[in-house]
Amino acid sequence: MRVEETQAAANYVMGHEDRELQRLMLQAKVYAPLTEGVLRGAGLKPGMRVLDVGCGVGDVSFLAAALVGPKGEVVGVDREPRVLACAQRRAEAQGLSQVRFRQSSLESLPVEGAFDAIVCRLVLMYQPDPLSFVRRMAEHLRPGGVMALHELELAAMGLTHPKLPLFSRVWGWMLPTCERLGIKLHMGLELASTLRRAGLVVDDGVVSGRLGVTPDSDAAQALVETVRTLLPHMERLGVALAMEVDIDTLAARLAAELRANDGVLVPSLMVGAWGHRPGPV
Ligand SMILES: C[S@@+](CC[C@H](N)C(=O)[O-])C[C@H]1O[C@@H](n2cnc3c(N)ncnc32)[C@H](O)[C@@H]1O
Repeated sequence: MRVEETQAAANYVMGHEDRELQRLMLQAKVYAPLTEGVLRGAGLKPGMRVLDVGCGVGDVSFLAAALVGPKGEVVGVDREPRVLACAQRRAEAQGLSQVRFRQSSLESLPVEGAFDAIVCRLVLMYQPDPLSFVRRMAEHLRPGGVMALHELELAAMGLTHPKLPLFSRVWGWMLPTCERLGIKLHMGLELASTLRRAGLVVDDGVVSGRLGVTPDSDAAQALVETVRTLLPHMERLGVALAMEVDIDTLAARLAAELRANDGVLVPSLMVGAWGHRPGPV
């Protein structure tokens, strides 16, 4: 693999501008039922203390908060102050007193009392060394505690039925861009082995995706917003020209292609895997 921008990936290549916060929220709407299934499968239940690593604008923390209830506690951690300000506002608007947010990188987060569960979504794929990241997260887990990971399998991205040329071109721009930015294309399918190599006992996992059943579905819009975010990188890396992507008309052109072919879109496949820390409970 040719990785030209590992450092950029380490610094979260998608940025933290307003538009990116909106993209995260749109994407979170698409993935919410899938992630909820993973958290339930991993056994999150009322009263638990949960750490959400790389919480972004808070969507996974909110899903966890609903499962642990008012007697539980969720701590969302992110190194980026802008996303946390947004997450905090959203928690207050929902009256979620069991959630709090803390600014820190995982690497500098002190281990202060073990958590019953650690959740982490769409963070590992951006890490230069996901295994070290999972090992570090595991230090915050009590023996018997569970770690639930949810990541994209980017290499399986972009299924349409029937096969549609414009959609195929979009994947043709996205995949090499992600790869050259150092984003892990196989993070989803590497979750189980990563948990195992980090010393956890893998319990189970699921693969799931949303169907974009209408041309203007959230799934289709989230795809276009991801292209928009990656466009400057696509251009700089010589993968696509702004002119051919024509980002402001891309949504309409994709929608027209889907409609004309009575097509269906599976924009991405998500893999969830969870495992527990061995040792006396
Ligand atoms: C794609 S966003 C995912 C946000 C959220 N987990 C979700 O699924 O909606 C990745 C987030 O991880 C954060 N992040 C990346 N590396 C981190 C690290 N080493 N420590 C703390 N946060 C990190 C970024 O700042 C960003 O907000």
